[in-house]
Amino acid sequence: MTDFNKTREMFYLPEGMIYLDGNSLGPMPITAPDAIQSFLHDEWRDELIKGWNSKGWFNQTNFLGDRIAPLIGAASGTVVVSDTLSIKVFQAVSAGLSLVPDRRVILSDNGNFPSDLYMAEGLMKLKNDGYVLKKPAPEDVFDLITDEVAVVMLTEVDYRTGRRHDMKAIIAKAHSVGAVVVWDLAHSAGALPVDVTGTDADFAIGCTYKYLNGGPGAPAFIYVAPRLLDVVEPALSGWYGHEAPFAFETMYRPMPGKIERMRIGTPSIAAFSLLSAALDVWDHVDLNDVRAKSIELSELFIREVAERCPALSLASPNDPTARGSHVSFHFEHGYPFMQALIEQNVIGDFREPDIMRFGITPLYVGAAEIIKAVDIMEQIFKDGSWRDERFQNRSAVT
Ligand SMILES: Cc1ncc(COP(=O)(O)O)c(C=O)c1O
Repeated sequence: MTDFNKTREMFYLPEGMIYLDGNSLGPMPITAPDAIQSFLHDEWRDELIKGWNSKGWFNQTNFLGDRIAPLIGAASGTVVVSDTLSIKVFQAVSAGLSLVPDRRVILSDNGNFPSDLYMAEGLMKLKNDGYVLKKPAPEDVFDLITDEVAVVMLTEVDYRTGRRHDMKAIIAKAHSVGAVVVWDLAHSAGALPVDVTGTDADFAIGCTYKYLNGGPGAPAFIYVAPRLLDVVEPALSGWYGHEAPFAFETMYRPMPGKIERMRIGTPSIAAFSLLSAALDVWDHVDLNDVRAKSIELSELFIREVAERCPALSLASPNDPTARGSHVSFHFEHGYPFMQALIEQNVIGDFREPDIMRFGITPLYVGAAEIIKAVDIMEQIFKDGSWRDERFQNRSAVT
């Protein structure tokens, strides 16, 4: 049984802050400063170039991948970490398309994260071979999985509303018509149990700066099903994915049969030291407990908001099993309201056109904070402070 009092103490949170934005950026693990100091002093400063061997830098892409693997139901040797999630989208979708070369449809949905859609568009332009990207409403995706579709590209948990796709059903349908599926797990990994093996997923990608608490811009990960490891074609064919990087051959040969072929170039070892410290937290955590607690706290939050802030309407699914681990509300004045809330030290965020998002992360948020957050929301409605001029100006990041 996960001890959430203990996990709360594994993170640094500023005194008095109620942090409901771990779905965007996780907080700093208390071990992070020592981890980065140790990297700087014991590794980079003292070892310099030797560190690639003596400190195992070269294969940290894989060591860290193996530590993320159990969080998404993957076997060891099927996940690598590096680059950014947008790059992983490109990598996975291009690999998927080359597995189904006779089809020209990428099926996504209009709630997918824009960067995923943009990366697919860029890839199609580059291929210049008649590809189309379909973006129906999320609830229509299932019926549109036909034998014209090459790749289904979806984010399991919608970044705005938290609505979940049914991974198992979508993969089964896609496989029955010969399509492959790429899952973006940005809002799933570390938020709820995922089973890429049990659902027979083809590709999965995700980031580590949200629920995995790896720090701003922490590296991304990619999973490839073992049955595909020898056949996927890495379109981003960097030397780090070569069979023999230090043979320095002039022709690319992907590492045969191994996830290494999805590596591209030299990763950020400094960022890896922070991610490694953040992943230690999961040694003490059962994701089923996290999920159960997240549902309990989300239900409490939704009930309290419905009673005390009736101007807000729930944008997330009512059914907790159909949601991820954040809860969103529509409110016409959501942006200034969120700014007023942030000024009172309750941190959420805003997404166009009118969505206020709140991440419910039991590792460091409990029921008392949920109630206090709603107290402050209720107060802001009562005193109307959100109408103040200073809350109306948009910052670059909302
Ligand atoms: C679902 C999803 N996909 C992709 C991205 C883009 O990730 P990155 O900026 O790390 O490339 C994000 C960023 O928040 C996201 O939420």
